Amino acid sequence: MAEPVQVTDPADARLTDYTSLTDVDLRRVREPAEGLFIAEGEKVIRRALAAGYTMRSMMLTAKWFAVMADVVADATAPVYAVTPELAEQVTGYHVHRGALAAMERRPLPEPDALLAAAPHRVAVFEDMVDHANLGAAFRNAAALGVDAVLLTPRCADPLYRRAVKVSMGAVFQVPWTRLAHWPHDLGLLRAQGFVTAALCLSDKAVTLDELAARHHDRLALLLGTEGAGLTQGALDAADTWVSIPMAAGVDSLNVAAASAVAFYATRRQA
Ligand SMILES: C[S@@+](CC[C@H](N)C(=O)[O-])C[C@H]1O[C@@H](n2cnc3c(N)ncnc32)[C@H](O)[C@@H]1O
Repeated sequence: MAEPVQVTDPADARLTDYTSLTDVDLRRVREPAEGLFIAEGEKVIRRALAAGYTMRSMMLTAKWFAVMADVVADATAPVYAVTPELAEQVTGYHVHRGALAAMERRPLPEPDALLAAAPHRVAVFEDMVDHANLGAAFRNAAALGVDAVLLTPRCADPLYRRAVKVSMGAVFQVPWTRLAHWPHDLGLLRAQGFVTAALCLSDKAVTLDELAARHHDRLALLLGTEGAGLTQGALDAADTWVSIPMAAGVDSLNVAAASAVAFYATRRQA
């Protein structure tokens, strides 16, 4: 059991993992380089632990000690007790859910191994930049039966705090990894028998209903970046193009919304 340690100095080096959490550019570089990520809120911390991630430390305000008594009791990492004011000074924002944990990242699996363990459905997120969209897309993947997620080299980090939070911990649930060579690595999917379908707005695309009716046993759905959509390289390398017909002059869906529609429509039915 970890004995909570009261920390009163915002400059205390033991809280370094939690500094400047609102500085996205800084944290985006720091966290992968230092092998850490931040889990925020009781549920997300519990889900990270349940998924087997190792805790580096936890920082709690007083009222969360009772709620998380079992987590504190089981913690082998230091648990820091802070006031809400100190938490705000350290992190740079009012920590509404006054429970933060610094967790260790794990090495990412090799894409081949990930695909071999993914029986039927894979999602590929190309260069998604918005952490909320990425988190929501992971939540959709978990909820709608996607077996694994592949990220392109420039895609945002699923373990960034906001992505973790919006996903409600789904980023710990769905196996994922990052591809090194894009779009070249689409060949890895094809080699393992996946049909690759690019979600796009082209007139040449089949509709989502048509794709679903093909009942592909192994199917990978490619979703593009928020602004420009899929790159020409990805479109050229995909086996088929698919679009969700739009009504009322709306040109496209938000990428996370598109992922939910596509995952559901192409779900594998028993
Ligand atoms: C906001 S959209 C990008 C729109 C971009 N102007 C384009 O032409 O693709 C982001 C991603 O969501 C997916 N998407 C959104 N609406 C879609 C639709 N109606 N049909 C198929 N995919 C869609 C695509 O994968 C797209 O790359």
